[in-house]
This record gives sequence, structure tokens and C-alpha cells, in this order.
Amino acid sequence: MDILNYNEAGDLELDGTRLQNFVKDEQEPTYVYSSRGIAKRVDLFQGALSKKLEQRYQVHYAVKANSNPEILKLMNGQGLGADVVSFGELKKCLQAGFPAGKIIFSGAGKTKEEIRGALDAGIKQLNVESVPELKRIAELSQGKRVSISLRVNPAVDPKTHPYISTGFKENKFGIDEESISQSLDVIRKTPQLQLVGISSHIGSQLLEFDALAQALRKKRQLFLDLKAQGFPVTSLDTGGGVGIHYDQAASTDQAQLEAYTDTIARELKGLEAHIQLEPGRFLVVRSGVLLTQVQYIKKTMHRNFVIVNTGMHHLVRPALYQAYHRIFALKKKSGEQMKADVVGPVCESSDFLGKDRVFEGLEEGDWLAIGEAGAYGYSMVSLYNAFPLPKEVIF
Ligand code: LLP
Repeated sequence: MDILNYNEAGDLELDGTRLQNFVKDEQEPTYVYSSRGIAKRVDLFQGALSKKLEQRYQVHYAVKANSNPEILKLMNGQGLGADVVSFGELKKCLQAGFPAGKIIFSGAGKTKEEIRGALDAGIKQLNVESVPELKRIAELSQGKRVSISLRVNPAVDPKTHPYISTGFKENKFGIDEESISQSLDVIRKTPQLQLVGISSHIGSQLLEFDALAQALRKKRQLFLDLKAQGFPVTSLDTGGGVGIHYDQAASTDQAQLEAYTDTIARELKGLEAHIQLEPGRFLVVRSGVLLTQVQYIKKTMHRNFVIVNTGMHHLVRPALYQAYHRIFALKKKSGEQMKADVVGPVCESSDFLGKDRVFEGLEEGDWLAIGEAGAYGYSMVSLYNAFPLPKEVIF
């Protein structure tokens, strides 16, 4: 089954709801999300974990994927914690009702203000990414105990797009193997720093899990070493990263999820630890589309262009990662077939949403849906060229 389907009348539906409903009087590009779709994904994810993991676990939604307030409320309502990377995200989570005790703060560049804000809010744990950050947290803690987890860089090749790979030894993320002992020295000398766990996130949009397995093996060993050295570690954070096949139907995600959860269960079998997970994309990606209206159909000797009223300023993934997103006409039509690039109004040649897409009977004024836009869509919008931001609707 797919989440985007045409009904018998030829209207595109997202999770059973006709998308045309959202464009009646509407000329602006609009993100549409299905809350039921997201809730089902959370259940699917939790279900796979509870079947396979023998340990206790807590899923922390990676808020960066989509921080729409309604989605945050939904995630909190489903019992998830949150993983944030800025004070802005932290505030949004608190406003949405997440208890501070279920929020983890990751990120390589936390400012003093952000650390102070996190300490004041009393969040669950700071995932620390460098020795200078450890020192800064100690300074700001004013003698109070702070739960920290060391985010280590396991030096593996996650085989994903270089811009979203983080566990490679040359990436800015995490504490490299050579600096772990120095970090432990700082922690030993600083009683207010309470080392409660270790974490890593090796990259996003993972479609195979060998590197994840390697990273988990390294973390497992480190966890045991730290315990043996007397550190009060209890949790092991596996990060996020499970990807989807953007060019295929939602039904293909089950196999991904199985392979991902099998890897985690296998590599952590028998380890006495509380497992933390930080998925972002997988939980929201399929349940969101970006609706856009065709402005012009421009045919040239070399290429055809479908020029729409959205682009890289609203969905940057194609421009930034050469990412593929499925594109559908909201209304199935018959007529002339045309192959074209779907492009936006931004003054950059990287401003495209899809290349060489085939449409039938497409005309100016028609609406398109860009699929799989629930993750890293609205959360990455920009104000470039001073276009208005897209609207968001959740049903
Ligand atoms: N935890 C940490 C520490 C992360 O840095 C990330 C993502 C996640 C969890 C969630 O990863 P996910 O489950 O969503 O793969 N803008 C890119 C993705 C960047 C991801 C950055 N970190 C994209 O559109 O593909």
C-alpha cells in the first residue's frame, strides 16, 4: 500500500484524504500533513522495536525533521521524548507539552545561552560533542549535577550523501576516538558532570546498516569499558538515520524498518543498558506533501519546464542533496504527454524539484503534490528572494 493514491475519480489522496480539498481558494504553496499517518508510523516504529529489543527503550523524536507544533503535540501524546539541537527547538518542545525530563539536547555548537537555557529547563541529558563543550557545561552548571552523554564519532562510513553523513572521522560531529580519554579525564575531575550514557548518530537516510552495526559494536565496547571504570553509565543512544526509498511506495518502508531494528537488536543483545533512539525522517516523511500550482509551462528546443510557485526556498532537498521526490498531479488527466523539469521561481539554476518528469495533459493553473515532504521540508525553508513562506495544514 502507498500513502499517496488516486481514487476512482482520479483525485490524488494522502492517506485517504483528497488533496484537492486544501487548494479550493488557495493560491499559495501549502504543506499538508496527515496526523493519522504520523501516528500510524510511530506505532509501526514502536511496534518493531518492542518486538525485537529485549531492553527498555525510549524513542526521542528528532525535532529537526519537522517541528510543526501540532506534530510535536502528537509526538508527545504518543509517549515519545524529543531530541533537539537548538534552544529554539527546545522551547518549541516545552510549549508543545514535552516534559523537560524527556528531552535530549544534541549538537556540536551549543552556545552559552543555549546551555544555560537547557540547564534551567532541567532537561534529561546533554549529548556532548567535544572537550571544550564539556568544559563550558561544567563552568555553567554552577555546581549543580548535569547528566551528560558523550556523543562519540565512531569513524565509520555510513554510505549516505556526504552532506548528511556524520559518523565519518572527518566530520565535525562527535568526540573522536583519540579524544575520548581526554574527555574522561575532564569528567573525572568535574564531579558535577555525571556521565550517564554514550551516543552517536552516524548519518541520515541510511539504506543499509553495516556501518550502523559497526558503530554499535564500538559503542557497546565503550559502554562496557566505562562501566568497568566506574562511570555511572546506563543509557546507550543509537541516534537516528533510518531512511526510505523516496522513489518507491510507502510499502517498501517495512523492509527498511525490519533491517534497521534487526541490526540494533542483534548488536545490543544481552547488553544491560537503557536504549535511546532518535528517529526523525522515518516518522514524518511519508505523511507530508507540498502542494504547488503550475504557473507556466515553458517549452524550449532543449528542455521543457514546468514552472511552479514553490522551489528550493520551500523544499531544498533536491537542490542541496540532489534528492529525488515523487511528483504527482492532483488530478489525473489524459492528454498530451510531456517530459519536463519542475522548477521554481528562485534565481538559481539549482532551483528544481524534479528533473525529466513525465506529465499527461498538464496545464497552467493545475496543482501538483511533491511527495515525501513531511521531513526536512518546512523545517529547512529559507527567506531567499523574499518570497512568502509556504502555509502548513494538518488534518
Ligand atoms: N539525531 C541526531 C543527532 C541527528 O543529527 C539527526 C539528523 C537525527 C537524530 C535524525 O536523523 P533521521 O532519523 O532523520 O535520519 N536535512 C537532511 C537530513 C539531515 C539530518 C541531520 N541529522 C535531509 O533532508 O535529508
